Amino acid sequence: MTPIGSALSLTPFNFILISMSQIAELTLDGKKYEFPIIEGSEQEKAIDISKLRDQTGYITIDSGYKNTGATKSAITFLDGEEGILNYRGYSIEDLAEKSSFLEVAYLLIYGELPTEKQFAEFEHEIRTHTLVNEDMRKIFEGFPVNAHPMGVLSSLVSAMSAFYPDANGQNSEEATQLHIIRLLAKLPTIATWSYKKSQGHPVNYPQNDLDYCSNFLNMMFSLPVAKYNVDPVVSAALNKLLILHADHEQNCSTSTVRLVGSSHANIFSSISSGISALWGPLHGGANQEVIEMLEAIKADGGDTQKYINMAKDKSSGFRLFGFGHRVYKNFDPRARIIKKAADDVLNKLGINDPVLEIAQKLEKAALEDEYFVQRKLYPNVDFYSGIIYRALGIPTNMFTVMFAIGRLPGWIAQWKEMRENKEPIGRPRQIYTGAPKRDFVLMSERK
Ligand code: ACO
Repeated sequence: MTPIGSALSLTPFNFILISMSQIAELTLDGKKYEFPIIEGSEQEKAIDISKLRDQTGYITIDSGYKNTGATKSAITFLDGEEGILNYRGYSIEDLAEKSSFLEVAYLLIYGELPTEKQFAEFEHEIRTHTLVNEDMRKIFEGFPVNAHPMGVLSSLVSAMSAFYPDANGQNSEEATQLHIIRLLAKLPTIATWSYKKSQGHPVNYPQNDLDYCSNFLNMMFSLPVAKYNVDPVVSAALNKLLILHADHEQNCSTSTVRLVGSSHANIFSSISSGISALWGPLHGGANQEVIEMLEAIKADGGDTQKYINMAKDKSSGFRLFGFGHRVYKNFDPRARIIKKAADDVLNKLGINDPVLEIAQKLEKAALEDEYFVQRKLYPNVDFYSGIIYRALGIPTNMFTVMFAIGRLPGWIAQWKEMRENKEPIGRPRQIYTGAPKRDFVLMSERK
């Protein structure tokens, strides 16, 4: 693509962006085609190629969707160059400082900050749907004690579609609203079961008099033999972390939720696939990998440079987890907030975590290293979040589950928007590179 006036005669095609007339001109095999330019509310520009194949017979290839906009969305704006992240127009800095996770959930899902009355109703609905069908527990009991909590979470959310069979992807607004409340209310309850089982402890029932974060912490840490008092520092830190994770536009798990939902699959199945996508170590699973990496560095004598060198050596197959981001190429605004929150939480709780020191050393060394500078690799949201989760007493294999609880409102909002906008089924194309047509050879005649 070249600006107008400096058009090169590329073969077989040449894209000219004529910004004045909001039209992109494509010259392909000597023929000219025009495609509209779309502009978003934050002046992001896109060439609308939805008629490209119809008109030219060509498709586009964009491995990893690095340049492909899958949708128009009014939920989250992010600018990777400037390090900006806004939910429905509100900055992540403001929301993390002044809001609560449930208020942010409301904002993401319904588009506006709630009034006091709207919030009271929303919170009440969630508080009174936290209990999970006892038969779900029977399914849960069948999982081995060492099952990864993300696999369990994804399976149980999928199982919710069996417990609420009226969810069929064709629901009325009212029915969908109930499914949304059920998901938000029950996910923390289900999430704590894996931890309790790993400890050999009985699971705890939700307490409807507790707020969202306190209820989760109580289900995680209270025991029949000892009352658990929720520390407000811990609850506030959790609230902040969940807000920071609540949405991130068309990332891997969110795109998965939208794609699955585009077939009119029900909301539980769609969210369950999002949980599976999040689990991968290149996505949400990175938070577990980061702490395991930091612990390995510590156990290996704390030589951060050795690991920086390994990450730079492509033949090692090692990556510095918690570094790099597909979209942020300057800094990840969530990582800045989390880094400060990690310092605050550790100070307030009087915890001295040697892994924090390793993380700080690693960050400093990486940020001064030409390899990382050149490739614009900065700490991402996962780099410091694990340090806070550890301080809150959350075990490493539950870190990605925490991310899933945080991301749930975003997945719901994106699923709902996709359905309300009546988006067509997602179905990418391909360029086939396999064997050309050939005749079948009988097995007895094969060499
Ligand atoms: N350590 C070392 N090198 C890296 C790292 C890293 N963490 N991340 C990227 N690079 C290098 C790549 O090898 C590549 O180098 P090259 O140009 O010499 O080939 C270059 O930087 C660009 O990397 P890509 O993988 O092409 O970038 P992409 O945008 O596809 O990937 C990703 C982004 C997956 C996040 C990547 O940076 C990564 O694997 N990071 C570690 C895992 C991680 O922390 N994931 C969490 C992301 S945040 C989230 O999902 C919540």
